[in-house]
Amino acid sequence: MTKTNAHETPDLNVDNLCSPVNETESELEGLQGDKTACGSSKFPSLNLYRYFLDGQPEYLVRYYWWAYLWPVATWFFDHQPIINAILFGQYKKLMGATMARLENAPHENTLQLTCVYGELTPKLVETVSPASLHITDVATVQLELAKSKVPNEQALLATRMNAEHLAYRDDSFSTVVLFFLLHEVPQQARLNVLSECMRVIPDGGVLLVTEYAPLPTNHIIYRFPPSRWIITKLEPFLDGFWRMDVASTLNECGKNFDKKADVVSDERIFADFYRVTEYKITSRDE
Ligand SMILES: C[S@@+](CC[C@H](N)C(=O)[O-])C[C@H]1O[C@@H](n2cnc3c(N)ncnc32)[C@H](O)[C@@H]1O
Repeated sequence: MTKTNAHETPDLNVDNLCSPVNETESELEGLQGDKTACGSSKFPSLNLYRYFLDGQPEYLVRYYWWAYLWPVATWFFDHQPIINAILFGQYKKLMGATMARLENAPHENTLQLTCVYGELTPKLVETVSPASLHITDVATVQLELAKSKVPNEQALLATRMNAEHLAYRDDSFSTVVLFFLLHEVPQQARLNVLSECMRVIPDGGVLLVTEYAPLPTNHIIYRFPPSRWIITKLEPFLDGFWRMDVASTLNECGKNFDKKADVVSDERIFADFYRVTEYKITSRDE
């Protein structure tokens, strides 16, 4: 597929959209170069993660190869009890809330933006049928797994692309589903993904985001230092996502396409730890 409508990354003032936290620093530290790789450290590093690079974003390979790119991991994680444990037992509720929102969303052209473990893809396929579900991911192993879960080839149109730079035309999808992607990508990638969503969703379309809710300062998992430490170690970009105002960011991105995003519903799950948010995308003239 060729890129039909290239656009420039919007010039966003991220300082207005996110609290000035240590995410940017730690992300840059993580992504801008590796002292050991440059030889300025005494200790040589094998950088084994590079084995998985294969055209994928460096943050994905470096921080998540063990979860999404290693075939053993894809087999291991794609089991209901494992996914449910990762989501603190909330998988069913999160899926249920997401599917409930989708029931009312326009189904003509639906995009699942990146693959996920579990039942989401087959459930989406069922809901949008007889239309096909579009799915995009940068990892071939994930696309293959998604394809293995659907009844026939026509039901799922799977393409390998980077969610930050989609090769779809403007206004291509009546609904886009983002299920736990945003907290897994660094800040600039997050802005690029949200900008792409605003570009590919037309006036009247819907963006469904299932994610962590804003900084859960009162939640036991956040208040208890060991659990907060573990979760932010496993999810190095989560702290930045917790502090990001998604609605403002979408609207900032939307200016480039004369569109705006309004929150239609925002369901909180697990004592405000997770959220399922439906945004209606409309033209700014309205
Ligand atoms: C949706 S997220 C997390 C899903 C969630 N933890 C689950 O499985 O339920 C994981 C997926 O995003 C994909 N991904 C991450 N960054 C991407 C990017 N920039 N473009 C396309 N796919 C990306 C990974 O390859 C992986 O398949």
